[in-house]
Amino acid sequence: MIIRALTVFEREAVRKFYLSLSPDDRRKRFCCTLSDDTISGYVDRVDFTRDTILGAFDEQAKIVGLAELVRGTEASEMAFSVRPDKRGQKIGTKLIQKLMLRARLCGIAKVFVMFLSDNTPMRRMATRAGMALSIVDGEAHAERELQAPSAEELAQWFMEEGLSRGEYVGTLGMVGSGSPSTRSANTPHETLQALTPAA
Ligand SMILES: CC(C)(COP(=O)(O)OP(=O)(O)OC[C@H]1O[C@@H](n2cnc3c(N)ncnc32)[C@H](O)[C@@H]1OP(=O)(O)O)[C@@H](O)C(=O)NCCC(=O)NCCS
Repeated sequence: MIIRALTVFEREAVRKFYLSLSPDDRRKRFCCTLSDDTISGYVDRVDFTRDTILGAFDEQAKIVGLAELVRGTEASEMAFSVRPDKRGQKIGTKLIQKLMLRARLCGIAKVFVMFLSDNTPMRRMATRAGMALSIVDGEAHAERELQAPSAEELAQWFMEEGLSRGEYVGTLGMVGSGSPSTRSANTPHETLQALTPAA
C-alpha cells in the first residue's frame, strides 16, 4: 500500500474522491451531510502549503483513502476517509499512524479528531492511536498530545516518502502499459507535477 503526502497538483483527485462518497459517508467524514457544491468549495480551500493530505493508493494508482491534517493554533485537526470497499484492511490505521508522525515532524503539539458518537471504526482507530476520548455537544472528540520525533523517526519519514514516490512512479508505469481500461488517467506531465515535493 502506497501512502504519501499529496501535492497541490492533486487537488482534482481529492475532489473526485470526496464527491464519490455517499451521503452517509460524507456525513461520517464531515459530521454533516454536504452537497457536491459545498464539498467542491471545501476542496478549493485546502491549503496544501500549510496543511497535509496523505493519500493511500491502490495498485491502479487510484486514491483509496485520504487523511487530512489541518493546522490550528492550539491543536490541529485530523480527519479520515477510506473508500467503502477497502475498509477493514487497516488502511485507516496506517493513515492515522503516518499522519501523527507527520504532525510531530511539523512541530505540532496536539492533534484531535471529531466524529459522530456512533462511529465505531473511528473510535477504535483513535483509541489504538493513544487518543483520549470525550463527548462534546453530542459528538465524539479524541485528542492526543504529541512529542517531537526522534532522529530515527525523522529518517523513517523521509525514507518512506522517497520510497512511496518511487513506488508510485513504478505503479503508474505498469498501469500505463496495461490495457486502456486499466491505464491511469494521469498524463506524464500530471505525474511529474504530482510528485513535486509538498511544501
Ligand atoms: C473510519 C475509517 C477511516 C476507518 O478506516 P478503515 O481502513 O476501515 O480502518 P481499519 O481497517 O484500520 O480499522 C480501524 C478499526 O475499526 C475496526 N472496524 C473496521 N470496520 C468496522 C466495522 N464495520 N465495525 C466495527 N469496527 C470496525 C477495525 O477492527 C479496527 O479496530 P481494531 O484495530 O481494534 O481491530 C473508515 O471507516 C471511514 O472512511 N469511515 C467514513 C469516514 C469517517 O467515519 N471518518 C471519521 C471522521 S473524520
